[in-house]
Amino acid sequence: MFEGKNWEPEFSERLAKHYDELKWLYAELYHNDQQAFEYFCDMLYEYYSQRSPILKEWDQAREKVPEWYKGNEMLGMLMYTNCFAGTLKGVKDHLDYLKECGLNYLHLMPLLESPAGRSDGGYAVADFRKVQPELGTMEDLAALGNECHSQGMCLCLDFVMNHTSEDHEWAKRARAGEKEYQDRYFFYDDWTIPNEFEKTVPQVFPQTAPGNFSWCEEAGKVVMTTFYPYQWDLNYANPVVFNDMTADMLNLCNHGVDIIRLDATPYIWKELGTDCRNLPQVHTLVRLMRMASEVVCPGTLLLGEVVMEPSKVVPYFGTIEKPECHMLYNVTTMASTWHTVATHDVRLLRHQMEAVFELPHDYTFLNYLRCHDDIGWGLDYNFLKQFGMEEVAHKKYLNDYLTGKGYNSDARGELYNDDPRLGDARLCGTTASLCGIEAAEYEGDQEKLDKGITLDIMLHAFLFTQSGIPVLYSGDEIGQKNDYTYHENELKWDDSRYLHRGDFDWEAAKKRHDTSTREGRLFTALRTLETIRSEYEVFDNEADTWIIEPYNDHILAIGRYYNGEKLLSFFNFSDSVQTAWVNEREDYFDLITEETRAAKAVELPPYGFAWLMTTFNKPMVKRHAPTLNEKLSSDEKEAAPAEAEKPAPKKRTRKTKAEKEAEAAAKGADADKPAPKKRTRKTKAEKEAEAAAKGADTDKPAPKKRTRKTKAEKEAEAKAAPPEKITTIMGAVPPAEGSD
Ligand code: GLC
Repeated sequence: MFEGKNWEPEFSERLAKHYDELKWLYAELYHNDQQAFEYFCDMLYEYYSQRSPILKEWDQAREKVPEWYKGNEMLGMLMYTNCFAGTLKGVKDHLDYLKECGLNYLHLMPLLESPAGRSDGGYAVADFRKVQPELGTMEDLAALGNECHSQGMCLCLDFVMNHTSEDHEWAKRARAGEKEYQDRYFFYDDWTIPNEFEKTVPQVFPQTAPGNFSWCEEAGKVVMTTFYPYQWDLNYANPVVFNDMTADMLNLCNHGVDIIRLDATPYIWKELGTDCRNLPQVHTLVRLMRMASEVVCPGTLLLGEVVMEPSKVVPYFGTIEKPECHMLYNVTTMASTWHTVATHDVRLLRHQMEAVFELPHDYTFLNYLRCHDDIGWGLDYNFLKQFGMEEVAHKKYLNDYLTGKGYNSDARGELYNDDPRLGDARLCGTTASLCGIEAAEYEGDQEKLDKGITLDIMLHAFLFTQSGIPVLYSGDEIGQKNDYTYHENELKWDDSRYLHRGDFDWEAAKKRHDTSTREGRLFTALRTLETIRSEYEVFDNEADTWIIEPYNDHILAIGRYYNGEKLLSFFNFSDSVQTAWVNEREDYFDLITEETRAAKAVELPPYGFAWLMTTFNKPMVKRHAPTLNEKLSSDEKEAAPAEAEKPAPKKRTRKTKAEKEAEAAAKGADADKPAPKKRTRKTKAEKEAEAAAKGADTDKPAPKKRTRKTKAEKEAEAKAAPPEKITTIMGAVPPAEGSD
């Protein structure tokens, strides 16, 4: 098929699989520019050949287990390299802490070269091939990637593709008047066309960087700058831009980055007379990038940053035949959650969850409470209108409440990009500060502190109840508060997002095992919740999910069912005791207290929550949550990378002594046996290790199983896959065939 090309068969096969579609889409977008397309294919091969043997082995292993990133054992964290550990080497040195946090997904905020003071937190990239010198080098990045892989973690990095810094080589040459480089951006001789654009294009930073264009003095021209004036929008209608930017992305993948966060995805195609968001060509570009990565580095995942209303978000998954992003952010649920914190009224959140529950199970969302950005109030105002909540007034209410001005509010946030014209301010602050922990500690008010911590934990419990991948924001695991030092920093003072971008407090983190401290209470609670989440199949992405009616608008109640396990979860968003008026017949087991509990008139303390579970025709079981590397090596042993060569990722992660002992006991003398299967029966040692970790009494009797089932349950069970091999903490269960 590819005459004259001396390409390796693996590459040719992968390219052949996508070739027709690739060629067709490329020709359509770039007016049949054959030469550019040929260049593109050759470039793909170049990056394929440069890819290290060990990364190629990971690709092969992941291709054999394509759902490797979808299990309920996935847990992510988002952080700034400098805030967490100073440098990339520092992060590598602290991987043990991240392992202790239970992570298998690490997202580092932008770390490529970016001019100080004109960096937008690293989102203005001057050189896509160079790490900011103060953080390290590209080699450090690759070494960190390697170490992450060997410890069973994957690494996520932003690819800021919508724009470059004005200090990027292309921008410099464009500024110097080189037409070829000006054509890589949007340059205009005067303001006529820019003014036309402004009629239809909304503003991203109305207060800190108004307008979508900037005057470039040196070039004597106007340049498009959707974000800050120093971030120049790239023109993807120019195939050179697409080819070279894709090469830059593949270069990151070849440095061991597993997840590429496509920054500001909806913005990458511009057209006069439109809002320049989500245009059809954006989807073509994302699809092309997906195919490029599948050809060169199929172990890589694309994560789209689509901060839009739900109807705009979902199309970025593409279709089953023509997928675009592997994962997307669940941004509306995040914003609706904070709305619910401020209103104590779950009706909007319930409505939002209903919409999410209708989506196919194979859509993978990244769920989060806080991230490096502000909270934008992109809520369903049409829905809210029926309760008399109008957009502008309601945004003001939310902002007042969450900045502590509202009645009975202990939240401590700050506004971001307050646009008085539209009444459209957004909001900043850490989870802990927004939950009232900062105010409580400042006032030395223990009762308030308890309330704040309870709210913080409940929000995380809700986060972990959702299908998808939960991603924590670094510091939240110990309840880190706002950092006000940015006010004094001349490079940061005008961007309130720095309020929640403070340095990680390692002193505070030392208290994480002391459960009399705020840090310890949160750290332990989150670890318990995460562990439970990873151990019960009912949290699997494939679970059926539904809204339960608790006849109480302060309580969000969600049901989950998967493979004989049913979970009822209740979240009280009010600061008073509330009752969920449910009346379920089965016997339930409270996953937190590990006691039986009836799912009848479930009473919840202020900001309390409950996870109640029952099983059908099987005892209450915990599974052994597999590590990522076990997933890739258990059923497909030969598919996992070989351990022999040096920087090779090891099949087994580095383990603690207790884990090693537990594993040795589980495996018996034969250390060379394949990695444990996902569901294995637990050994005594493992049970003990678990009990020690959780401080729980594992010998508790199993809750009674009920016998009678509803019709819907019977149907659901009939639909469910044959039972998998399961681990029991209650007693022997005959192993059954089947796999995930
Ligand atoms: C994304 C980032 C945000 C940044 C913007 C411009 O939205 O999350 O922090 O300002 O892109 O690159």
